[in-house]
Amino acid sequence: MSQTDSWGSRVGLILAMAGNAVGLGNFLRFPVQAIQNGGGAFIIPYLVCFLLMGIPLLWVEWAMGRFGGRKGNHSTPFILHEMDPKRALWKYIGVFGIFTNIAVAAYYCYLESWTLSYVWHSIAGSFNGQSAEQVAAFFGDYININTSTTGIPFEPIVFWLICLFLNTWILAQGLSGGVEKVAKIGMPLLIIFGIVLAVMGVTLKAGHHGAVNDGTMGLNFLWTPDYSSIWSAKVWLAAAGQIFFTLSVGMGSIQCYASYVKKKDDIALNAMSAGWMNEFVEVVLGASIIIPISIGYLGIEKVVELTQTGGLGLGFKTLPYLFTQWGPTLGMIAGVCWFGLLFFAGITSSLAMGTPVMGFLENEFGWKRKPAAWFFGIIVLVLGLPTVLYFNEGVFDEYDYWAGTVGLVVFALAEIILFAWVFGMDKGWKEITTGADIQVPLAYRFIIKFVTPLFIGGVFFASLPGIWEKITATGLPWQVHGARALLLLMFLTISWFVRVAYLKRLAKLKHSKA
Ligand code: TRP
Ligand code: TRP
Repeated sequence: MSQTDSWGSRVGLILAMAGNAVGLGNFLRFPVQAIQNGGGAFIIPYLVCFLLMGIPLLWVEWAMGRFGGRKGNHSTPFILHEMDPKRALWKYIGVFGIFTNIAVAAYYCYLESWTLSYVWHSIAGSFNGQSAEQVAAFFGDYININTSTTGIPFEPIVFWLICLFLNTWILAQGLSGGVEKVAKIGMPLLIIFGIVLAVMGVTLKAGHHGAVNDGTMGLNFLWTPDYSSIWSAKVWLAAAGQIFFTLSVGMGSIQCYASYVKKKDDIALNAMSAGWMNEFVEVVLGASIIIPISIGYLGIEKVVELTQTGGLGLGFKTLPYLFTQWGPTLGMIAGVCWFGLLFFAGITSSLAMGTPVMGFLENEFGWKRKPAAWFFGIIVLVLGLPTVLYFNEGVFDEYDYWAGTVGLVVFALAEIILFAWVFGMDKGWKEITTGADIQVPLAYRFIIKFVTPLFIGGVFFASLPGIWEKITATGLPWQVHGARALLLLMFLTISWFVRVAYLKRLAKLKHSKA
């Protein structure tokens, strides 16, 4: 995204930001987290985390982005640096805002490519007449590259390459010419598909199409508050993790998108529009598809059991089978809606992951947009390959854990301290409220200064035992060690690039003074 790149319209910007946030996390991760953490027990911590952590971080990140963009910075290393130019540390903290995006894209694009392939299989009717076991086995077969017999040779790789190409090509068209267009088409379609499926889920009746429970049983499971686990650290960590992931905060992609708004443009209302749209899609649509449909057919106990073995089974193994119970036509429509929705949700997020690294290369090394997009595509290809080849060995989950879970919290903690305490709340509040089209509640000045940092700090410290357990675990396959080494190497490489860029900036400064 070049210096001169910018958003075409306000609606486009909001849809692109909402597209950034609305992703596979809303439809696949959220329901599973909710089920794993007791349904109604999950919702309260989740909403508290949204109000005290999510919303403040949205405002902070949009403000940081616009502030940085004003000085021509479009990625977090130098946005953070501009906020406290005296300390060398911040630009290396800012490395997270590039690192996380690349590392998440590396596994996320693979997941995204499954949805594309499953759209195809839904149309082709691959699941019709299969038993539940067969549909589940299909997925296992699909992701096992060596034995994959699901159709086209090397099918998962083929769809993955198509998906990477699409992402790269759209990024190469720029913000208003690519990303924004995709968001304007993809977001409305996604919402329509989501409403169709949610209606199907909620109106599911016991006895019809082989369902044993009403769709409302799943909704009650989720929406009946259960206060018993409110003191469980595990539930709170899961809720906090989900808020981070779903809003795309703590990642650097919001800052990058926001750095392309104009100096005096509103960010306060924009941030809320995109953020609340994400929550609507998550807790209304995301909650009304997988949960009611799977519980309608299988009952609560069985569904809870199914989510114990990992997050992706319900969406890819169970749902396609249940759709076939609706007959070939309705089943195909449901399949296309479901996987099509996932695809649009996915691609508008993976595009957001590409922009920070492109912004960095363009700002610091004078790259043009097209080579920068291709560079991103190639890195994701190289880093993503292990997640494709060694999915079953746990490389995918390893990336998701370090980059998509731990990385977000660490970065968010650092940036909120920088914003509220180093940059300072006087300047910070001005950044948030300048040009604002809504009155930002004054309470948030206090929340951003005290509550959010403490909250994120608490989440961070509460996760330390789990992180330590991961580090000291023994008997891991070599692929997992390899994945860790690769992630570390990437972090160090980006840091080195940031250092080079910094020295270049210094040299230029000297030159212009002389
Ligand atoms: N919020 C997205 C989701 O819910 C995921 C996402 C978007 C993301 N941008 C990101 C994750 C950048 C990490 C980094 O699926
Ligand atoms: N390990 C993650 C989990 O079980 C994998 C995952 C599930 C995921 N759903 C996802 C990753 C959606 C990205 C998006 O929660």
